[in-house]
Amino acid sequence: MRVLVTAGPTREYLDDVRYISNASSGRMGYAIVTALQQAGHTAVLVSGPVDLAPPVGCEFHAVESTSQMMEACQELFPGCEGVIAAAAVCDYQPLKRVRGKLSKSGEPISLEMIETDDVLATLGREKRPDQWIVGFALEAQNERENALQKLRRKNCDWIVLNRPTAIGAESNTVELIDPDGDVVADWSGPKSEVSRSLVDWVLQNRGSSANSR
Ligand code: C5P
Repeated sequence: MRVLVTAGPTREYLDDVRYISNASSGRMGYAIVTALQQAGHTAVLVSGPVDLAPPVGCEFHAVESTSQMMEACQELFPGCEGVIAAAAVCDYQPLKRVRGKLSKSGEPISLEMIETDDVLATLGREKRPDQWIVGFALEAQNERENALQKLRRKNCDWIVLNRPTAIGAESNTVELIDPDGDVVADWSGPKSEVSRSLVDWVLQNRGSSANSR
């Protein structure tokens, strides 16, 4: 089976040398790729810039901006059975990218930002009945409620709820939520172990999610 995985942060440039991004290490997504490969599947990795080497044997697509991630995912998703979207995509991008380098003027400046396109919501709209989608939700308050809203908005079969302590960390504590809002599994431990449990669970239960019934 071929599974698309998104990982790492995206970058949104203000000018040719400065960008807005986040502290995602990409570890969770890369661990998911390894877990898929260990389970005998083909992983197609679309990754923002991280300090990790792509797992040997995966199909690797390096991207930088959210729009590049969108383009790669829209091209690759039709050839995959499912997607696990672990990327920490920038929610906002500067309205305009300045060519060259913004100079200091001695005055405060303000930056106008617009929302980026939502890669996962787009895949959710394009999803065929035989495909499945697992999203991630990083939540600091009203966690389960917010995660469920995201699952529904993005047409996911399951969503992995984790918390801000996951960012850049070696381990993670997650809950897996289904479209009814039920917590169907929870795991805690090194990201490699959590990834193995998640991959096993999804591969065993795909085709039986409330969204594919
Ligand atoms: O809306 P939020 O960013 O919290 O949603 C998280 C989920 O949506 C993650 O699976 C993330 O990879 C995905 N996402 C995306 N494109 C965006 C924002 C989030 O694919 N622009």
